[in-house]
Amino acid sequence: MDSILLKTPLTFIGFLLITFLIIYFLWPEALLRFGRWAFPKIIGVQVRYAEHNGYRFCYYSRGKPGLQPSILMLHGYGFDKDSWLININFLPKNIHVVCLDMPGHGETTCLPGENYTTFDQVKRIHQFVECTGLNRKPFHLVGISMGGMVAGVYTAHYPSEVCCLSLLCPTGLNYPKDSDIMKRVKKNRKNHDVSLVPSNIQEGIEMFRLGLYYSCMAPKQLLKGFFVDWLPDNNFFRKCYLDIFSDESLYSLQDNMSKIRVPTQVIWGKDDKMLDVSGAEVLAKGIPHAQIHLLEKCGHFQPVDSPLKTSQLLVDFHTSYTKN
Ligand SMILES: *[C@@H]1O[C@H](CO)[C@@H](O)[C@H](O)[C@H]1NC(C)=O
Ligand SMILES: *[C@@H]1O[C@H](CO)[C@@H](O)[C@H](O)[C@H]1NC(C)=O
Repeated sequence: MDSILLKTPLTFIGFLLITFLIIYFLWPEALLRFGRWAFPKIIGVQVRYAEHNGYRFCYYSRGKPGLQPSILMLHGYGFDKDSWLININFLPKNIHVVCLDMPGHGETTCLPGENYTTFDQVKRIHQFVECTGLNRKPFHLVGISMGGMVAGVYTAHYPSEVCCLSLLCPTGLNYPKDSDIMKRVKKNRKNHDVSLVPSNIQEGIEMFRLGLYYSCMAPKQLLKGFFVDWLPDNNFFRKCYLDIFSDESLYSLQDNMSKIRVPTQVIWGKDDKMLDVSGAEVLAKGIPHAQIHLLEKCGHFQPVDSPLKTSQLLVDFHTSYTKN
């Protein structure tokens, strides 16, 4: 009797483990999709949609607008609203948090013929903010990389809508020191060369790992799964890449930063191999009283390399500037 009881659960666990390993090695994208479906539910995040003239925005939302300002989070190029899931998990539950799929990314509409320069993206984000009523009260705007550039220029254009701004290693600056990858971007962009946009899984994995200090945080199988779902949208990613490094956008944050007057914090990983940490000096000089935080052992994908530290900095900044 005892031995049967003991054996059955063990067999069952063994069966689960083997199934997991088979999926992990043969069908990693399914595992990733399952994680992306389940994790938001576990941490109490809801998927929402908003429409503006037939254009659909998709976003995560947790909590309701309340006394504390809402937080709007803008992800980086090639990612989607999932980028922030780890951070949301560390944010207090009473704060209303919104993570948007940036124009063309994730489940937000991707229109053929749409442009993705900084200002085109700012205009789209503003439509989103208007149609969801997020700007009924000034909100805390957070952006990383491409999303940081858009967040900064947004604040310069709509200063009354933003109460404070967090810029995580943003694009859009003339970095005193260019990373190797930025040197290649600058060389290629003149010829509209998109060879830096991954066109197969191997290139994707190499590019992704460049963003991390702890590359073991992104196991190869999961990255494979990530790029299986990423590569079909390659035409969009090429267009978006060309637009964010176009003449109009390349230094758009730098050109607009003097108009940013709200309290601003800048967070940058010292081991950022995509956008050199020297960009933080540019923002320190250009934005009055900006708080600068440089993170040790942290690359470009801060939410993966330093999830706790970045969340802590965001929360401390939020509470210190939004008390009343
Ligand atoms: C995108 O930019 C091109 C070139 O500047 C322009 O001709 C086109 O009308 C723009 N498309 C949209 C949807 O704004
Ligand atoms: C922001 O920067 C862009 C790109 O340099 C520039 O064309 C634009 O005029 C600036 N926007 C404002 C409102 O100054």
